Amino acid sequence: MLKRKYLHEISWNDFNALSPLEKAPYLVQANGRPYHVLVAQQFDRERLDMLCDLATRIRTIAKSRMGLNFLADLLCHKHAMLDFSQPSSRTFLSFYSACQYLGIRIAEVRDSSTSSEMKGESREDSVRTFSSYFDMIIMRTPLQGFVEKMAWTISNTDRPLPIINAGSGKDQHPTQALLDIYTLQRSFERNGGLAHKCILFCGDLARGRTVRSLSQLLTFYPDISMIFAAPDHLQIGQDILDSLDAAHIHYEVTRNFKAAIPKADAVYMTRIQDEWDAKPGESHHFNMDDYSFTGADLNVLGRNSVILHPLPRRQEISTDCDSDPRAVYWRQVRNGMWIRTALIATIFGRDQEITHYYMMNNK
Ligand code: NCD
Repeated sequence: MLKRKYLHEISWNDFNALSPLEKAPYLVQANGRPYHVLVAQQFDRERLDMLCDLATRIRTIAKSRMGLNFLADLLCHKHAMLDFSQPSSRTFLSFYSACQYLGIRIAEVRDSSTSSEMKGESREDSVRTFSSYFDMIIMRTPLQGFVEKMAWTISNTDRPLPIINAGSGKDQHPTQALLDIYTLQRSFERNGGLAHKCILFCGDLARGRTVRSLSQLLTFYPDISMIFAAPDHLQIGQDILDSLDAAHIHYEVTRNFKAAIPKADAVYMTRIQDEWDAKPGESHHFNMDDYSFTGADLNVLGRNSVILHPLPRRQEISTDCDSDPRAVYWRQVRNGMWIRTALIATIFGRDQEITHYYMMNNK
């Protein structure tokens, strides 16, 4: 178990200079449970397995009215703030539903034009205001590093509270990585688990935060390999490749997506992240047909392989794939709600109570 370190014992500059892995001890509680959730690298294999098991127990418990009532009582004394200053449908709603399952009361800010930021208040002051009313902040922002800065700031006040990163800049989306792992684990449950599998990533790998976070969690599984398929200007960052080298992970970087499909146990498609274009629309000059998954590609995809997508999708997976049993991207959405419920329950220390209830009622 990680030995806990405290965010009030390190300056922001020193904390900010640490690698994501070095930040991990500052983000856990004394009992090893996560406190702030900021980067994918803060999790380890043991915690991933615990969260996936808990998510599965919760979804079983939630099948009955009695179970739903049990869950809804667990955190009915807590309030959470959903602070989303970037567009979101799935992540927002899945956190919203996760809180509701646990009885947490929720407030939201989705548009800073309705907040005092319009009167000149800084984002820091707005977030500090939230901490006066709430027990947890779930935050999505276009600013890389901002969620970390807020976690550090809040931890240095007399009202510290956990902050969850629901997507920050082009860099991290740790809870999406959790739901992707949960989906992969469930997909390969009867097929040897995630070990020894080959994951093929395709699309805008340079600016897609989901791939960056997921590739880090995959390193925990034995003999995993990864293929990154993208045109040169959208290829995965060197920092990710360096971290894979350090973890002795086998990977391949290629422009040829179609040739890689038969080798993949999982194909992870992503959209062009054109909101980051330096000149609006510049991404659209590039034809992405070679980086799309079509009905014809189903014929060369392995019988037990699966297709994932964090969504939203544009044309990178044609809709005629949707009814194929190997297309698991809609299941991914629902898995996200359960793993986020498990994560929040764990942060507030209710995981053992849930497991106990599950054992008592599912003998
Ligand atoms: C992703 C995101 O916001 O990074 N969406 C999501 O959270 N499911 C992927 C994307 O927007 O392309």
